[in-house]
Amino acid sequence: MGTRVVIGNHKGGSGKTAYVVNTAAALAAAGKRVLVVDLDPQANASRRLAWRFDPANPVPTVSEAIKADAVGVAADAVYRCGWDGEIGDGIDLVPARFDLENRISEAGVVGAGTRLRKALEGVDDAHDVTLLDCPPSLGHLTQMALAAGDVAVCTVEPEYDSVEGAVRYRDFITGRGGDLGNPALSLIGFVVSRTRANVGAHAYQIGGLPDLFGADRVWSPHIPEQAQIKDAADAGVPLRQLGHPRAAEMAGIYDELAKRLVTALTAAGKAGAR
Ligand SMILES: Nc1ncnc2c1ncn2[C@@H]1O[C@H](COP(=O)(O)OP(=O)(O)O)[C@@H](O)[C@H]1O
Ligand SMILES: [Mg+2]
Repeated sequence: MGTRVVIGNHKGGSGKTAYVVNTAAALAAAGKRVLVVDLDPQANASRRLAWRFDPANPVPTVSEAIKADAVGVAADAVYRCGWDGEIGDGIDLVPARFDLENRISEAGVVGAGTRLRKALEGVDDAHDVTLLDCPPSLGHLTQMALAAGDVAVCTVEPEYDSVEGAVRYRDFITGRGGDLGNPALSLIGFVVSRTRANVGAHAYQIGGLPDLFGADRVWSPHIPEQAQIKDAADAGVPLRQLGHPRAAEMAGIYDELAKRLVTALTAAGKAGAR
């Protein structure tokens, strides 16, 4: 049995997808089985995990799984990720395409909010951790992820708008978890992303995070803005595959954060929640 972790922030560019992809790699490198569910029509996680849609051989993605409105149907949309090697072996993916946009207009249909939960039922029982990558929105796609999740995590860039987006994500979970049919959902941690040592505003914002979110929920280490993280994302390969010492160092930071995640899941009583 595993745990579903919903990664969000009501702000784009806060490093949500970078966290999902690199944490999947870190967990897989530690021998865990990971499922990544891409809930963003931008499909950045799917591309960065080297998954390709072939129009000549169309296959179901998360959009079709949600549309089907049937228990366990996401099983038909689980694929091994496109990365080589043992890390790739440990990561499965329910990918997205741009047509996931078409699901948004179905928000008013009876039961729409729990369609993803229904689709995933029984599908990720063999995965230790399922990471759900949200769009920078608190709309229907994120709401379906929150309805399906066991816990939530927020990535936050230490900049004014990103911190405000994190506050809105937190308040939405706290205030609306019950309305989403998931009152037990809790936000267990904040991952501080894209920090720049030479930006005074970053130091100022980082200093305010413990008061705002609770010192024990602001996780360490922080993830610096580092070219290799973007290079690996752009190339669609694991950080360590870049073969650059700084890329290995960044992978080490995600390893530490993956341990922090596992500790937090245990502390919240959510390890193997399902
Ligand atoms: N720590 C980092 N250092 C450098 N580039 C980063 C870092 N984190 C994310 N990026 C890059 O910044 C952009 C936005 O990050 P992304 O993970 O896509 O954010 P989100 O999913 O929250 O919109 C992407 O191009 C990504 O590769
Ligand atoms: Mg993203």
